[in-house]
Formats: sequence, structure tokens, C-alpha cells
Amino acid sequence: MKSFAKALVSAAAITAAFNAAPLQADPKAEVLHYWTSGGEAKAVKALQEAFSARGGEWVDAPVAGGGGDAQAAVLRARVLAGDPPAAVQIKGPNIQEWAEAGALADLSGVASAQNWDGVLPETIQNIVKYEGKYVAVPVNVHRVDWIWANPEVLAKVGAGVPTTWDEFNATADKLLAAGIIPLAHGGQPWQDATVFETVVLGIGGVDFYRKALVDLDMDALGSDTMVSVFDQMRKMRGYVDPDFPGRDWNLATAMVMRGEAAMQIMGDWAKGEFAAAGKVPGKDYICASTPSENGYLLNSDSFAMFNVKGDDLVAGQNLLAELILGTEFQETFNLFKGSIPARTDVPRTEFDDCAIKSMDDMVSAAEGGTLLGSMAHEIAQAGAVRGAFIDIATAHFNSDMSSQDAVEKLVKAIKLAQ
Ligand code: GAL
Repeated sequence: MKSFAKALVSAAAITAAFNAAPLQADPKAEVLHYWTSGGEAKAVKALQEAFSARGGEWVDAPVAGGGGDAQAAVLRARVLAGDPPAAVQIKGPNIQEWAEAGALADLSGVASAQNWDGVLPETIQNIVKYEGKYVAVPVNVHRVDWIWANPEVLAKVGAGVPTTWDEFNATADKLLAAGIIPLAHGGQPWQDATVFETVVLGIGGVDFYRKALVDLDMDALGSDTMVSVFDQMRKMRGYVDPDFPGRDWNLATAMVMRGEAAMQIMGDWAKGEFAAAGKVPGKDYICASTPSENGYLLNSDSFAMFNVKGDDLVAGQNLLAELILGTEFQETFNLFKGSIPARTDVPRTEFDDCAIKSMDDMVSAAEGGTLLGSMAHEIAQAGAVRGAFIDIATAHFNSDMSSQDAVEKLVKAIKLAQ
């Protein structure tokens, strides 16, 4: 992607235009995102409303498809056509790549006016800064390694939410024997990879996750531990219902909500669905981290402002950036979305127990060195390497491939992808 984007843009002139947007411009912004599920749509609507309330003209550009791969393809095509949207939902290393190509505007003006350095954790700053400058505005922190469970369904087999993978399997076997779907799952590659990375963390531990999925250590990738990971994934293939292929993630969440299945493994955007349906944590559903020592798999959504011409568009980008990291919006958006605020000084009063747990666990993980970027959600990896992990995880999940074969294919695929 680098050379393609580099060939297309010249940063300096437009960046200058960005900061100097005349105040009388009418803010306008086309916003490219992939938030179309119940909770997601409510959250992005809050941004649209905040923007309109400040006189902004919002041009909505949603691209359906959880995980964002479809949206990324649209973005590349738009940039190729020389018509980038003003604001784009984007994450992790992709931000660095677009910035390196000179495609992104410098948000330093808004960032210093709102003291982003003072309210954002270093982990998040590192994701949205390029060469020391803010090139994207973070909107949240999503935790990936969650189990969402229906307590009533689990009670049917006398079980609580499992805290080890052995307990997970034992409970799932009981549920199966009782004719209950143990694991609600959507058969899409990014969802298979989401489950896969929580199993890597749980079976291998924090150091193993870091070695294998972050550092791409070949010994770790080709190890017996990785064989055990695929063994666990094979078991979990037996815990999903026959209709799982192609199912959207939020429909799997709805199965747990309706008591048609006991559990789902998914990031806390799932909580946005429970919240949108008025469900109460601890009563209608339970949130618990997937079995692991004490890891925390971080995902964080941001908006990058692509270089565009026109005072109204530049004013729109300024206003969006200011709104997104305002304390009021940080609370409103994240209550709808199921995530926690990116900024650390938002009052906790309105947030539920799941959010408080995520906030506390993130702080202790950061302090304890067990905070890890999600591979499946483009924080630890992106592009071809992420693609290789997803391809093997989903090929194994949807076939009778042996764990040993999966490991050999994974090592080969990661070598090729680098
Ligand atoms: C993630 C994104 C989340 C959530 C999820 C499902 O990649 O970061 O905000 O929307 O996909 O679409």
C-alpha cells in the first residue's frame, strides 16, 4: 500500500491549509465507517448529532461488514480515485502507513488546544501519532477477549461462566448433551480470528501471544503450544450450531440475548447490542474475560482526517476531532458502543460493571506489562501478516485440517507475508 498512497499525495500544502481553515467556513464532513449494527449505529449517530448541533453538515458513508475489511477496500479505491473521504474510521498500523504516505492531515492544532497528551494513555498516543504528531483522533478502547453469557441458559446445566479452557469445554459438553448451543458464533474470517487470538492468549499466555502474534517468532508459531491452540479451536468448532457460516457477529450476540445459545466470544462491541436492547449486565447477561492469566487484548477505533481541499471540509475535520475527544462525547459514544473512553479522565459514574472492569483491567495490564494489541482487529498486525493469520485460522476452523497441518501452514504463510 505504501508506494501506491505515496504516489498520490503531497502533504505539506494541504496540511498548511488544514490549520488555517478560516473560521467562517461551514463545517462539512463525509465520514467513512463500518458501524451499522444496532449498538454501532446508535454510537455513530451520537457523533452525527453532536456535529450537526454545532452547525456541521454530516455526509454519512457507512460500509456494512463487521471488522472493517469491506470498508478498507472502499477507502483504497477512493484514495486511488483521488477522492478520499474527509474522515475515516481506521486503526493501528494502517494509520502509520497512510501517514507515512503523506495522506493524513496533522491534528496538532486541536490536539494541543485540548491537551491530548495529558488525557490519553501512552499506548493510545503511540497508535494515533506519526513522527510525534497526531494524525488520527482515538474514539475508544475496545477489549477483545470477552465471553458474553446468558446466565439462565448456563444455569440449565448448573454452570457458571468458565474461567479455564478445560472448564469451558466441560460446560460446553454438558450444554451439548442438553441440546443447547454452547457457542454462538458468526462464520466470517475476522470472527474466527477473534476467537483464535483469545485462545492463543489463554492457552499460551501473555508472553506466548506476544512472541507468536506480535513478534512473529517462528519457534513460537511452529511450537507444540500452537498445536494445542488449534486443538482447542477444533473443539470449539464442535460447540457452534450448523447455521453459523456467514452469520454477522451481532446476530450471534442476539442468540445469546434470546437464550438460543449460552455464550459468545467477541469484543465488547457486543455489549453495545445488549445495551441497545435494554439488557442489564449481571442480570440478563454476564461479561467475563476469556480464560487467561491476566492478559488484555486491546483494540481502539480512531478517525483519521485525509487530506482534502476546501475550507468547509477542513473546518469539518477540525470540528470532528474536537468533538470526538471532548469528555461529553467520550461518555455518550462509549455508553452506546460498549467500549470505554480513550481519554482517562471521563467520570465513571454512568458506566456499568463491565466497563469498569475493562477500565481497571486495562490499567493493571498496562502496569503489569500484559496489555497486548489485538491481531484480528489490526492493532498488533495489519495488511498481509494479519491476512495470513486470518486465512489459516478460518481455513482450519472450517475444515478437518489437523492441528499439526495448521501450524505448518501458519509458519509458511507468515514467512511469505513478511
Ligand atoms: C472492530 C471495530 C469495532 C466493532 C467491530 C465489529 O474491528 O474496531 O468498533 O465495530 O469491528 O464491527
